[in-house]
Amino acid sequence: MSNEISRREAIGGAGAIGALGILSRFFESEALASTSTVNQSINLLELPALPYAEDALEPVIDKETVRIHHDKHFAGYVAGLNKDLKNLDQARQSDSFESVKQLSRDLAFNASGVVLHWIYFSTIGPNAGGKPAGKLDSLIRRDFGSFDTFWKQFSAASKTVEASGWGVLAWEPFSQKLLVLQAEKHQNLTSWGCMPIMVCDVWEHAYYLKYQNRRAEYVDNFAKIIDWPEVEKRLEKYCISK
Ligand SMILES: [Fe+2]
Repeated sequence: MSNEISRREAIGGAGAIGALGILSRFFESEALASTSTVNQSINLLELPALPYAEDALEPVIDKETVRIHHDKHFAGYVAGLNKDLKNLDQARQSDSFESVKQLSRDLAFNASGVVLHWIYFSTIGPNAGGKPAGKLDSLIRRDFGSFDTFWKQFSAASKTVEASGWGVLAWEPFSQKLLVLQAEKHQNLTSWGCMPIMVCDVWEHAYYLKYQNRRAEYVDNFAKIIDWPEVEKRLEKYCISK
């Protein structure tokens, strides 16, 4: 059974993921949780299917890049997270925590990789681009001054990530504001509690086949495939206080 990334409303999901806290709500809502159960406290994840054809993002991102990115890299993080969850469960079952430092590092890396790739593939698409509208537009204007200023900050953050990482538009729940963050790898430089709602993957695997070392060109073109209505749905679904 495979789950399709929801570009509309969440499909609804099964089970909670032990020890992942707030992520359990995310995964449940995103229908990432699978039917493959290790024990009553852990449900493993399955790679969601792309919600569009592999060539749907051309010419911004080529078909081969999308295929490898989704089927190999995203799949690798899903497999890695499942392995981490099983290893941690085994540690608890055997009351043996000698490896918890490394397991915790692995969990942060793979869980963050899954979340960011999930958001990445589900908030880009064909016939997209332009500017946000509605509540998201209002909040971007409030928190960044204008959309153009936001985009300058976001694109600059994405272009200047050191080595592999992400540009991130996130909702910060304590101050109730939108923030632009950088992430190195998947998990470094995060701000606790923030929920990403739109992300630009600047690992080379996201663009190198077409753009080689021209990351800035990729980021500029990335603006053409952002599905802003989907980003706004994420904002309203996870972030705006009721
Ligand atoms: Fe990636």
